[in-house]
Amino acid sequence: MSSSRALALLAKMTLAEKIGQLVMVAGTHTVTGPVAAPDLVLRVRQARVGSVLNLFGENETQGLQEAAMRETRLGIPLLFGLDVVHGFKTIFPVPLAEAAVFDPDLWERTARAAAEESVQVGLHLTFAPMLDVARDPRWGRICESPGEDPWLGARFAEAKVKGFQSPPHGIAATAKHFVGYGAVTAGRDYAPVDMSERALQEIHLPPFAAAVAAGAAAIMPAFTDIAGVPLSAHPGLLHGLLRERWGFDGVLISDYNAIAELIRHGVAADLADASALALKAGIDIDMMSPAYEEGLPLALERGQVTIADIDAAVLRVLALKERLGLFDTQRRKVPKKDALANRQALAREAARRSIVLLSQRKPVLPLKPDQIIAVIGPLAQSRRDMLGSWAAAGADDETITILEGVRTALPNATITFARGTAIDDHDASGIAEAVAAAGKADLVLLCLGEACHMSGEAACRAIPELPGCQRALAEAILDTGETVVVLLSSGRPLMVPWLFERAHAVLATWFLGSEAGHAIADVLTGRWAPSGKLPVTWPRAVGQIPIFHAQRNSGRPENPADSFTSKYLDLPNSPQFPFGHGLSTTQYAYSDLRVPEGGPLGKPVNLAVTVANTGSVAGEETVFVFLRDIVATVARPMMELKAMAKVALGPGERKTVALQLAPGAFQFFGLDGLWTAESGEFEVLVGPSADRACCLSARIRLS
Ligand code: BGC
Repeated sequence: MSSSRALALLAKMTLAEKIGQLVMVAGTHTVTGPVAAPDLVLRVRQARVGSVLNLFGENETQGLQEAAMRETRLGIPLLFGLDVVHGFKTIFPVPLAEAAVFDPDLWERTARAAAEESVQVGLHLTFAPMLDVARDPRWGRICESPGEDPWLGARFAEAKVKGFQSPPHGIAATAKHFVGYGAVTAGRDYAPVDMSERALQEIHLPPFAAAVAAGAAAIMPAFTDIAGVPLSAHPGLLHGLLRERWGFDGVLISDYNAIAELIRHGVAADLADASALALKAGIDIDMMSPAYEEGLPLALERGQVTIADIDAAVLRVLALKERLGLFDTQRRKVPKKDALANRQALAREAARRSIVLLSQRKPVLPLKPDQIIAVIGPLAQSRRDMLGSWAAAGADDETITILEGVRTALPNATITFARGTAIDDHDASGIAEAVAAAGKADLVLLCLGEACHMSGEAACRAIPELPGCQRALAEAILDTGETVVVLLSSGRPLMVPWLFERAHAVLATWFLGSEAGHAIADVLTGRWAPSGKLPVTWPRAVGQIPIFHAQRNSGRPENPADSFTSKYLDLPNSPQFPFGHGLSTTQYAYSDLRVPEGGPLGKPVNLAVTVANTGSVAGEETVFVFLRDIVATVARPMMELKAMAKVALGPGERKTVALQLAPGAFQFFGLDGLWTAESGEFEVLVGPSADRACCLSARIRLS
């Protein structure tokens, strides 16, 4: 429903002013930070811009806002947007890392904190959450995503939308990139996508459906196509599904220059054509392409769009500006500039809970407080790399390095440092010094991994292993025979089976944000028992990709004794680490799974399991519930994640954990194109990861 203010404004607007509302232009970045270039100021004064990206800061945004509100005929305020993906000033772990916490409450709190910081600098909207289901570690953007699972993605979506948009200091959330972007061919960014209708419906759409249900203000279509139809011009998915079927009445914002790129996709002949395709499909705002500004007037003249199409988009943009309180500057509450310490504590909590203890050949954690520790490797002292792919206004000099974190946490230890080599070059001359440092130490902390720019957009890797000569460094250190704990920084699973075989322990320390060093030290010193779990299956080799837990059985499942079954000659099918994998310094035992024998379809199913902490330190466990529909009209995956719970347990403590399967958990995309649940037997698997051997299982008959 359009407000009377929006309708009154629309009635007064010229075509150029209407199109101006649909145009989003970027600020310019200089050494002093983001600024509005003279050309942008001019365009704002001419009412040719409706929203701005990549510009923040009280002065910069206020100055431009005043130009829009005081110096244009209708005084319509600008909307300011930025990629506040995992924090604005206080940087939280990258989404793939934060997903490893499996805690919607945390996901919501970090989004709320990021929104509060964003509001202080004049921002109104974030291009987040990123909800692409990602199953290919070659794709750099896996790091921005919550991982491989659609159910998990949906929970992440709800929590992030709620957190970002939470009053009184919320900003509008943009669910992106709609849809299927994670399935780019060969894991190569921007590459074409082909997938079955089932994969689209069951795997890629659910997180977006959850974001819409949670009230996401905006959605960004992906750069990519699906089966030859670019998402920036996909009437079936944008208009048909999003708007008509799901009732999404928010704003659709194109990705950067994506509308003009319809020409290169080969579906539009010129900018007018491209603008018409995008507008007709339902895109309201053109981010950084000339298509709407230059193309729409001609498209209108040619009859490719109507003024009613343009008006509808303008009304949606005005509605968002009203909803955000932009017309009424008094209404927008800005939080006080305090609470920095709280946000740092939150960043540290998020970061330490994101760390995954991948392997442990002998119990080396926690570290003894008074030994000689050699901190070695190119990631040990790197600040920028701790921040990850979308660092927004995160400052390198406010970021805690691994070396600093360890030194602060272990004041009685003797801590030496040798870089050994750079992240990604072939100068091995520092390795000898690192080996010498290792030789004098009781324990080595080996800080290896990627630079933060090696994950994220346009950062795909065909060989996702350790870059540069880090392998040579690692092998030289391992050859010394010292105890070696590896801290692996990356935005994706790195395929380093040799390292898992030889190091005494390996921790995935991702890109953990502003408090990285302190958080890592918390885990190393036993202030926090490692609790993160993998939100993505970790392959042994690139040849196994795509690999994920929800695979179907096939007619010839892997059988080592039978050649004509689904397997490789040179590697097992099993991954390096399954989805949900994550060790700790304590252990948990699962028992007494209680599942009803039967029940009606369409009702929730209540389960319970007993989890005991059998170790000697307190810990936090994530309990997973997987489901398998044993016989259905469509072959179903061997296991699909359908519920989870977090449980905190003191040493020796046991608790009964209540779990619930929602009615939707039993449904799939039926042969008739409708979501359906079929009566019959289901297998329920409850356990610490998607490794079947570790799960308790029971059957339930629903009818
Ligand atoms: C990315 C988006 C991002 C946009 C604005 C694009 O290149 O694909 O995820 O929101 O830029 O920065």
